[in-house]
Parts: sequence; C-alpha cells; structure tokens
Amino acid sequence: MSKQKVAFIGLGVMGSPMAGHLAARGGHDVTVYNRSRAKAEAWVAKHGGKFVDTPAKAAEGASIVFSCVGDDPDLREVTLGANGAFQKMAKGTIFVDHTTASAKVARELAAEAKKRGFDFLDAPVSGGQAGAENGQLTVMVGGDADAFERAKPVIAHFAKAVTLLGPSGSGQLAKMVNQICIAGLVQALSEGLNFALKAGLDAKLVLEVISKGAAQSWQMENRGKTMVDDKFDFGFAVDWMRKDLRICAETARENGAQLPVTQLVAGYYDELSKTGGGRWDTSSLIRRLRRA
Ligand SMILES: NC(=O)c1ccc[n+]([C@@H]2O[C@H](COP(=O)([O-])OP(=O)(O)OC[C@H]3O[C@@H](n4cnc5c(N)ncnc54)[C@H](OP(=O)(O)O)[C@@H]3O)[C@@H](O)[C@H]2O)c1
Repeated sequence: MSKQKVAFIGLGVMGSPMAGHLAARGGHDVTVYNRSRAKAEAWVAKHGGKFVDTPAKAAEGASIVFSCVGDDPDLREVTLGANGAFQKMAKGTIFVDHTTASAKVARELAAEAKKRGFDFLDAPVSGGQAGAENGQLTVMVGGDADAFERAKPVIAHFAKAVTLLGPSGSGQLAKMVNQICIAGLVQALSEGLNFALKAGLDAKLVLEVISKGAAQSWQMENRGKTMVDDKFDFGFAVDWMRKDLRICAETARENGAQLPVTQLVAGYYDELSKTGGGRWDTSSLIRRLRRA
C-alpha cells in the first residue's frame, strides 16, 4: 500500500497506540492532535511525524483523518467546533471515528460530511488497551461501502478484524451489543469469583479449571486473576462503561429492546463511581460484593 498523509485526533489510552501503528506498521505520514499538548509532544518524540494545535490543522491535506475521543460532545467539538476537523477536510477524503459514541451523532456527522463532499465512518473498537497496543482491535464500521473499502487497509494496521455492519450508525449499534453482552457477564464473573472466595476455594485454581470449559470468556481469561488479586488500576474505566451503558439505555428506549440485567449492572457501576472508582477497570464490580 502506498504511503498516505493521515491524521489522528485524540492520543489517549487507545488513540496513542493506534496512531503509533499507522506510523510504524503502515509507514504513513502521520500528523497528530491532542487537546493537552504534552501527549502530542510525547507521541512525536516516540513515533516521528508532527503535531499541530487544532483538529482543523490536522485535517489539512490528510486523505484519512482518525479520531478517538471520549463522548458525543467531544466528538462534535473536534469535528464541527470552531477549530474542528470538518472545516479542512478535502473532498473525497474520509473521516474515521473510533470513539464509542451514539449512533445518532454518527448519522448526523455522516450527513454533514456528505454535504461537504467527504465520507464519515463510525468505527468503534473492542479489545481494550492491550488490543490497541498489540494492534489487534476488532473494528465495527458503519457507513458507505466504497469509503469502507478505501479505509479498511489503513485501519487494518491496528486491527485483527475490520467489518462493515451497514449504513452510518451501524458500527455504534454493534458496539452497544458488545457492551450489553459484557455488562452482565462481568457481574456474573464477579459473583462466581466472590462465591469461590467465600467458599474457601483456591479461586485462581478454579479459574484455571473452568476457563477450559463452558464458562470461558475474554473477561475470565484477561481479568479473572486480577479480580482475585483486587487490582483495578488499569484497563477500561468504569466511567467510560457508564457512558456506554447510558447510550445503550437511550437507544433501547427508542427501539423497544428490554435490558433488565444491563440496567441493574449500570446502577452498580454508578455506585462504584460515586465511591471513587470511576477510573478503575470495569472488572471492579467484584469490589462491591467483597465489601458487602
Ligand atoms: N480504554 C479502553 O479500553 C477502550 C476500549 C474500547 C473503546 N474505548 C473508547 O475509546 C474512546 C477513548 O478511550 P480512551 O480509553 O483512549 O480514553 P482517554 O485515555 O481518556 O483518552 C481520551 C482522549 O480524548 C481526548 N478528548 C476528550 N475530550 C476531548 C475534547 N472535547 N476535545 C479534544 N479532545 C478530547 C483526550 O484529550 P486529553 O489528553 O487532552 O484529555 C484524550 O486524548 C472512548 O470513547 C472509550 O469509550 C476505550
């Protein structure tokens, strides 16, 4: 693939390694923007390329612009804001957003991009910090097939799977399914491990055994041992999950889907956040049970 001029907006836990792979694996000419300048400076010191001080400047001359920020308002700010990237996107280019946001904002931004002559793909990811660092993310995409085909080989530098789910918003909807599937599962894993501890079992040995059977899951493989060790200062933050589950609940109200367990777990995450656990990994649900 030929070298392209690309840009990345948002060098957080996820964005920084993703942008790094575009430079190292893809050999692309990468311009980065981060709201707090120190992260942009550190990124350029490590990966080369250059940093600029607004999303608009990052978009100037880029064939693909990536973003990975926090929530809907942040995404609106870096795209449509006073210094937003949409001001400088050239015709025929593509904006690929990796933020976990609502399907509504994805559709709005895709319509706005179309009016201005470029494409917008909603492309939330799964696989966590480790997936971003290893370039092994799963990417769920919504948007037009033609733009998807052009962006896919570039996204593939940090992904093990890149799949088009349907029109704009479909990537975000698929990510909601992902989060709904995880929420109840992490609570069940917490209940199982807490039960093992209360029963006086060697919980890590139990994990070793049952992870080879029907109870196996990514959460069990990647979080089980740290849950037993009561370690949560890493990973996917409780407050990000609360944001994701709020988006799921809003969308379910519109489409009529029932989310009884997900709603319960969302309340448990609210409790954790209120008691200082907003930045803990989502597997900290077990802490509520161990405290009780
Ligand atoms: N962490 C995970 O395991 C994971 C997994 C899957 C999906 N996600 C999703 O990926 C997104 C990013 O997560 P993360 O863990 O990388 O978060 P993070 O480390 O907190 O990084 C967020 C990034 O967005 C930037 N940002 C936020 N609001 C902004 C605004 N209004 N204007 C400009 N920049 C803004 C931040 O800039 P500053 O540096 O200036 O704060 C930072 O670069 C979220 O939507 C999250 O739900 C995360």
